[in-house]
Amino acid sequence: MSFPLNRPARLAVFASGRGSNLDAILNAYPATHHLARVALVISNNARSGALSKAQARRVPSWHHPFPPLSKDPDDSRRKAFESRAKLQLDTHKIDLICLAGFMRIFSPDFTRNWPGRILNIHPSLLPDFKGLHPQRQALEAGVTTSGCTVHFVEAGVDTGQTILQRKVPILTDDTEASLAARILQEEHVAYPDAIAMLLSGQVKYSA
Ligand code: GRF
Repeated sequence: MSFPLNRPARLAVFASGRGSNLDAILNAYPATHHLARVALVISNNARSGALSKAQARRVPSWHHPFPPLSKDPDDSRRKAFESRAKLQLDTHKIDLICLAGFMRIFSPDFTRNWPGRILNIHPSLLPDFKGLHPQRQALEAGVTTSGCTVHFVEAGVDTGQTILQRKVPILTDDTEASLAARILQEEHVAYPDAIAMLLSGQVKYSA
């Protein structure tokens, strides 16, 4: 499958936490939008704000535990999550997966089945500051600019072709929290914009 489609794309948003990026995507793509609609929300965390936001907007949602890899060396519970998630994605006829604060890593088998069809947002200007606590990493490195990146997901962590970046200044009195809040405002613009760029054919995945 490649974009553009000749109908609204059906999005699945995966989120583990509060779900503010999910909110931004839902606001940008209401059910009547010509480019996309959120058809499913998936979480590994039964108590995530993202699930309550989906339920409040009557968007189908599903959750299942997905333990961090280090706690599950034989990988069996990740496989269980992925095979059940695949059933959900098939049932809801999902075209595009958007990871929005989803704090788990898919197996290479999973990502291989969705080439150019999984996006992620990361609160740094990749390739700088991959992984956990990117805002803290930026402050510790003493850089004066940071921001966010929306990118295609591949087997590595926070790798894959960049679609869009938005920058913010780092101020001398910034804390990790103040910088994270400034970047988050840009994330809420960047994610819907990146989705539009992909779905309208302005950006192509070139693996
Ligand atoms: C965002 O900063 C996102 O970039 C990162 O996790 C955070 C999720 O925030 N991957 P929210 O749950 O969308 O509010």
